[in-house]
Amino acid sequence: MIRLGVNIDHLATLRQARYRNHTNGASPEPDPVAAARLCLAAGAHSITVHLREDRRHIQDEDVLRLGRECREKLNLELAATPAMLDFALRLKPAEVCLVPENRTEVTTEGGLDAARHIESLRPVIQQLNAAGILTSLFLSPEPHQIEAASALHAHVVELHTGCFADATPAQRPATLEKLKSAAEQSHRLKIQVNAGHGLRLSNLPALLSLPHLHTLNIGHSLLSHAIIVGLDRSVRDFLAVISQK
Ligand code: PXP
Repeated sequence: MIRLGVNIDHLATLRQARYRNHTNGASPEPDPVAAARLCLAAGAHSITVHLREDRRHIQDEDVLRLGRECREKLNLELAATPAMLDFALRLKPAEVCLVPENRTEVTTEGGLDAARHIESLRPVIQQLNAAGILTSLFLSPEPHQIEAASALHAHVVELHTGCFADATPAQRPATLEKLKSAAEQSHRLKIQVNAGHGLRLSNLPALLSLPHLHTLNIGHSLLSHAIIVGLDRSVRDFLAVISQK
C-alpha cells in the first residue's frame, strides 16, 4: 500500500498568525505535536515538517518535540545549509528531505537543482547517510536530476508534483507521463519514489497511476479539509483514496 506522510507546516502557520510575538503566558495554539499525534493515530505513516530559514511556520522547538514524540516517523525538510545539516545530525530524524529554499516564495515552488549543485550536495548527503538517516531529494521530474540523485547515493527522490497539480486538463496527461518516466527511472536506479506538492482528494486518483510510489506527502489540502471535517477524518479520507491503488 502507498504510504501517507502528512505535512503539518500550515498548522504552525495558523499558530504563528496569532502567536508570532507571543508573550502573555497563554499556550500558543494549535500545537503541531498534538496534530502529529492525531495524524499518526488516524493511520498516517509519517509526519513531515519543513524548518525554513525564516522560521515562518515550524520552529526549532516544534522539531525537537517531534523528535522526542515520533523520531522514527519524522521526515524533516531542510535547505542544504551548514546550520540545517548540523541541526539534522543532532536530531537524527528517520528521514531528511533536501529542498530548495527561496525567502520570497509562498511554498516550495520547484525542485532542488541537484545536477547543478552536485559537488556541494555530496558532503551533505554523505554525512546524512553516515548518520543512518534516510536521505531524500525533492526533485522536478527531469532525467538529469534523477541521474544526479543516483550519483549522490540518495535513498529517495520525492518527485515535485506541482507540474501535475497546476496543469490544465489539456496539459495533465503530459505532466503525468513525465512523472511516470521519472518514477520508472528512479526505480531502475534503485531509488525509492515519493511524491508531493499540490495533491488533493480530487487530483489524487489520477496521480495514483504513477508506478513504484512509496509515500505521498500531503499538506495544505489535507489540513484545509481538516478544518471542515476534523483532522482524524481528513487523514482517513486521504488514506481511503490512496488505498484504492
Ligand atoms: N513535499 C515537499 C518536499 C514540500 O516542500 C511540500 C510543501 O511544499 C509538500 C510535500 C506538501 O505540499 P502541499 O502542502 O502542497 O500538499
